[in-house]
Order: sequence, then structure tokens, then C-alpha cells
Amino acid sequence: MSEQNPTSGADKLWGGRFTEATDAFVEAFTASVTFDKRMAEQDINGSIAHATMLAAVGVLTDAEKQQIITGLEQIRSEIRAGTFEWSVKLEDVHMNIEARLTDRIGITGKKLHTGRSRNDQVATDIRLYLRDAIDVILSEITRLQTGLVHLAEREADTIMPGFTHLQTAQPVTFGHHMLAWNEMLFRDYERMQDCRKRVNRMPLGSAALAGTTYPIDRTITAKLLGFEGICENSLDGVSDRDFAIEFAAASALIMTHLSRFSEELVLWTSAQFNFIDLPDRFCTGSSIMPQKKNPDVPELVRGKTGRVNGHLISLLTLMKSQCLAYNKDNQEDKEPIFDTVDTVLNCLRAYADMMPALQVKKDNMREAAKRGFSTATDLADYLVKKGVAFRDSHEIVGKAVGYGVAQKKDLADMSLAELQQFSSIITDDVFAVLTLEGSVNARNHLGGTAPAQVKAAVQQAKAKLAERG
Ligand code: ARG
Repeated sequence: MSEQNPTSGADKLWGGRFTEATDAFVEAFTASVTFDKRMAEQDINGSIAHATMLAAVGVLTDAEKQQIITGLEQIRSEIRAGTFEWSVKLEDVHMNIEARLTDRIGITGKKLHTGRSRNDQVATDIRLYLRDAIDVILSEITRLQTGLVHLAEREADTIMPGFTHLQTAQPVTFGHHMLAWNEMLFRDYERMQDCRKRVNRMPLGSAALAGTTYPIDRTITAKLLGFEGICENSLDGVSDRDFAIEFAAASALIMTHLSRFSEELVLWTSAQFNFIDLPDRFCTGSSIMPQKKNPDVPELVRGKTGRVNGHLISLLTLMKSQCLAYNKDNQEDKEPIFDTVDTVLNCLRAYADMMPALQVKKDNMREAAKRGFSTATDLADYLVKKGVAFRDSHEIVGKAVGYGVAQKKDLADMSLAELQQFSSIITDDVFAVLTLEGSVNARNHLGGTAPAQVKAAVQQAKAKLAERG
């Protein structure tokens, strides 16, 4: 028997059929404990639920169940206290904990794995882990959105230039601009919530791939672990990681939104835009240029987007050629998932912390809105309302802008006589249209930039956020 031979696979929980020890490099290469120990709590919770169910259906006695639970709780304490000794020889989090359980409670520990496989165990653990992570991500999105909504409320009347092609387009309110980011985050929140439903399905009971010969009751374990349902097919339950791919995709979109937002903050803090200021505590300096105050936090968030996009591609690629059912390839899902969770959470946190601290330089925004003929469309609309066809009025205003460029004069700064050179229809009432306030107030419909609309949208957003509880 292999137990007599120290060079055999006898030191492994699966070593029965092996006649030589695992190659040292292979052992390290195939091990996952260095990273999957992060799911230790979920692994213990899954095992406690499994043992409880086994006792309920008569596969374990109540005394055995109790021994297992007590042992697992002691292991939980060791792990929390940092005294648990993880061993690469024991490959992964599951076998480290199971081996330790047997050390502690003896033969009963060896009964825990009855009717279960590491294949359904790991699939259960990662889903539990992800479910918890999604809940934290959801609450960080809410914190960021709350900050954005307050900012939008505070700056509902603040006027800035709106851009298309990064060229001055039309005046908008800063509050309106902030609410645009908030809308993206509402969708990000919904996507995460929706993904959570599919994460929260229990594979446990699939065993290795085909189910088990023991009279298990999966509804008991599902209920104990808070799953909304079970994976209905055992082959699918142990093998697919589509829920993780969905999570990575939803995360990549969050990062994409934060990255675009970052791009704006970087531009806006530059001397050329000079629209906002970030407090020193969110910036860093340069080791050579004493004057520098760099917007490192937004830059880094923008940069970290690449990492999460990469994880999405890793997970998709990991899955694409796997035949049914479980394959060891799936061990490669952990690091991308963990790093996605860390990155998204850190970036959301940085943004949520930054929002209330953002200082808006209203005068500079206003000045910028006045440059670049941002009310040209208003003048065109004015002429249309007086009976000129839109294409003709476009042409007329184009000429007026050309004149303004040559004279270095905004439309609002031209005299009536100057404006009338381009159309005799123009009268004194034009100036109400050409002011920045006139321009934004005129866009007073659902979804428009008028301060009145922004204030109403803020109230709606607040109500929606309040529903989350
Ligand atoms: N560490 C493995 C993983 O992360 C656990 C399952 C391994 N199962 C097996 N039969 N080798 O996927």
C-alpha cells in the first residue's frame, strides 16, 4: 500500500492510485492555494451547509455533523487569526481545510467530502465569493452616485461649455453634466444586480459532474447558503463560468465609465481648461518639477481600466475551448476575478471619496462657455422661429461667426447693427437668446440642460437611490 512508501502519492488526499510523488515543479505549478485561500470563509460555509444537509438526509449522524462544524469553526478562527498554516503540497484551499479538519477531529473529518467533489465545491465557493463582492460593489456605486447627485444639485445653475469633438458646442449646466455620469452608473448598478441573480445559483450537488449516489437534498444546502436556486444540470453546474464572465463584463463597463470620467477630470484640472480643482490629498507632485500637482487618482483609474478589460478577455478565452464538464483550466478563473473585484472596488472608492471634494471654478467655466460661440445654435433657432428656413439660418449664423472670429468678438458682444449685417430679421430681443442663461434655460424639457430640469432630475435620482435602502 502506498501509505508505506513515503515517495508515493500517499501525502495527497487523492494519492491512492499514485506510485510516485508529484514532481516538485508540477506541485507548485498546479497549486492554487496561494490565491484561492481568499475563498476560505466561503469554503467553510459551504462545508458546514453540506455537512448539515448530509446529517438531515441520514448520511452523517448528528454527532458527526456537530464534530465537523465545531472543527470547521475552529479552523475559521485559526485562519482569521493568521495562525493557519497553508501548504502548497495540499494544492488548494479546499484540501488545506479538509486536511486540517481531519488533523483536528480525526476520522470524521474524512467523511465531510461524502457526496461532493472539489468540482462542485470550487464552483460553489467562487459564486459565494462573487455574490459577496457584488454586494460591496453595489454599495460603493450607491455612495458614488450619492456624491454625484449632491454635486449636481449644488451646481445645477453653473454654466460650462458643452463639447462635441472636444470643440465648444453649446452651453450646458455642470449639474447636467454630472447627472450624465450618474445615468451611466444607474445602468452599471442594474447590470451588476442582474448579474448577481445568475451568480446566486448553487452548483453544489453536481459532485464531480454527474451528481451523486447519496440521497442528497440540494434544497437544504441552497437555503442554508442563501442561494436563490440551484444549477439545474450537474454537468453545467461544475463547468460553466459564464457568471464570472458576465461579472467581468459589467465591471469592464464600470471601469470604462470611470475611465471616461477620469479623462475629463484630467483635462479639467489642466491649466488650459482650469475648470476644477482636486484637493491636494487626491494629487501627487513631481520629483523634478516643483510646480506640478498631478491628478494621479483619475489617471490611475483610467489606466486600471486596461487591467479589467484584460480580465474579461482572459475569462472568455479560458472558457472558449472547454469541453464538458469540469477542466482544470477553470482554476485560472480566480486571479482575474479577484483582481477585477479589487480594482473595481478601489476605483469606485477613490471616486466616491473624491466627489464631495471636487471644487468647481465657475468663473473659468463661464468664461470658456463665452468663448467658442457656444450660443450660435440659439441664434439659428431664433431666426427659424422668425420664419427663416433652418439651412438658411445655419448659413447666416455661420457668416456671423466668421465675422466674430475675425473681430475676436462673441455673438453676445456684437451690437444690434453688427448682427443685422447678416439678417435684417434680427431685432433687440436677440440678446435674451444669446446669453448663456438664455441658452440653457431654453432647453427646458425632460432630459434637457435647463437648471429647472436638472433640479427635477436630481429629485428623481435621489428618490431612486433612496429605494435601494
Ligand atoms: N483548485 C481547483 C480549481 O480551482 C479545484 C477543483 C479541482 N478539481 C480537480 N478534480 N482537480 O478549480
